[in-house]
Amino acid sequence: MEKKMVEVCYTPKDYEYFKGRFEIVVVIDVLRATSAICSALNNGVSAVIPVSTIDEAKTYQEKGYLVGAERQGEIVEGFDFGNSPYSYMKPELKGKEIVLSTTNGTRAINIAQEADQVIIGSLVNLEAITNYLIRQNKNVLCLCSGWKDKFNLEDTICGGAISETLINSGNFSSDEDSSVAAKYLYMSAKDNYMGFLKSSSHRRRLKRLNLNKDIKYCLTPNQIDLIPTLQNGKIVKLNN
Ligand code: MLT
Repeated sequence: MEKKMVEVCYTPKDYEYFKGRFEIVVVIDVLRATSAICSALNNGVSAVIPVSTIDEAKTYQEKGYLVGAERQGEIVEGFDFGNSPYSYMKPELKGKEIVLSTTNGTRAINIAQEADQVIIGSLVNLEAITNYLIRQNKNVLCLCSGWKDKFNLEDTICGGAISETLINSGNFSSDEDSSVAAKYLYMSAKDNYMGFLKSSSHRRRLKRLNLNKDIKYCLTPNQIDLIPTLQNGKIVKLNN
């Protein structure tokens, strides 16, 4: 049986070079958008609507939606939440649809929306993602959100974790050097994400904002056993 492809794309800017060859795109934004989305759905939020701009977020807010908006790691003035996973653990959000706009993650999700299937990956739901992808046995692209179309360490390490696990299953292979490099970054980091990612630019940015609790949550793997998936513009829990 021919092996399926699994590759790692470092930023949304490079997505055009990978687009169209992968049935499943896993969007990754470890610090913090995809970790926050996993946390929200795991805590009973019924759907997360990802929007790329603050204007779109404002339009939803005017319609009465609860809206999370983050730029540069901080809550955008005038909105209910930012991008902390802990903001989405509130019991009053159970059963609610919320809207989310972040610097990179929600933009990456919308860039990939034409793919056959878009799922949401992070370290917090890593094992759920890899088990699912192995079962699906389709071509997979790990799309890293990066930082403003630049490479970042944590998303690439998560992409490397996914690609390496799929390759080790025996049913997948990678061709791109980006995937090989992601694998070696993952191999270096996997036993101590917090220690390895001390040098991550976004971790330093969040640390300056006193968001260490968020960092620790987002860098702790396999806390959540669910897969968020994009359906008709809304991110919901996949019934798999
Ligand atoms: C992003 O979407 O760029 C990040 O998640 C930003 C953040 O939450 O700090």
